[in-house]
Amino acid sequence: MVTVRAPATSANLGSGFDVFGLALGRPADVVRVERAEETTIEVKGAGSQYVPEDPAENTAGVVARELDAPAHISIDKGVRPSSGLGSSAASAAGAAVALNECYDRGLTKRELVRIAAEGEAAVSGEAHADNVAPAILGGFTAVVDDEITQVDATISLVACLPETVVSTRDARQVVPESVSRDDHVRTVGDAATLTAGMFRDDPELVGRGLRDGAVTASRTSLVDGFDEVRDAGLTAGATGVAISGAGPSILAVCREDDRTAVAGAMLEALADAGVDARAYQTEMGRGATVANR
Ligand code: HSE
Repeated sequence: MVTVRAPATSANLGSGFDVFGLALGRPADVVRVERAEETTIEVKGAGSQYVPEDPAENTAGVVARELDAPAHISIDKGVRPSSGLGSSAASAAGAAVALNECYDRGLTKRELVRIAAEGEAAVSGEAHADNVAPAILGGFTAVVDDEITQVDATISLVACLPETVVSTRDARQVVPESVSRDDHVRTVGDAATLTAGMFRDDPELVGRGLRDGAVTASRTSLVDGFDEVRDAGLTAGATGVAISGAGPSILAVCREDDRTAVAGAMLEALADAGVDARAYQTEMGRGATVANR
């Protein structure tokens, strides 16, 4: 039996739509695998009633098939589905790392990202590695086609998770097909600023790079209270606030000393908007890690 802890992740980070992602210290899924004749899946934990246990429809099941590694897979969901925090990616990443270990496949982490992305693609129909890359490699990742850049960074974060759901399909439909030259120039600048901030562990630069004029504006109407929550977070000391993935979670970057105040202000703004939510006060974290075997 192999047990792996696989973290929640936040994709896009404002200026890096479909490219950037980071691993959070928490929450996380715990994935246990045990060799078996055929793959079976059992899911418990946060939102488990919405996660299919049919191996053909579960990212972890598709990963087992791709690795030719049948197993009994037990998933304890810490990352709620449809949260914008990489829920299915956490399960895919956890399964990929656990099955690689269990079956002594010897694949590299980057090879496992490709396998986990297949799991995501088979289940969601879209092959984005912007969540599975940080879920396996940890830290900050930039994914373009098959090329992955990874940086370990230490940045304090607040992830607010509203008790609402945003469909990724809906959130993708509202994204404009093209952007103006001015928006393109600003986005390149913001993305470069964010990347430099990751190399320097600098929350000012990372927060500034969360700005985005190209995609976020088209999605704010899907995330109840986003404008108010962003303003509240920034006023309380956040250096930047963005929609996490396709939403509804909202990610703030801040200095460690400001984290509690930022979380409190964001939750209060969500409550004022009539949205129940919880906040994870955390920091950038490691990729999927074998806990025991
Ligand atoms: N980058 C995707 C989106 C979500 O914002 O639609 C995560 O793959």
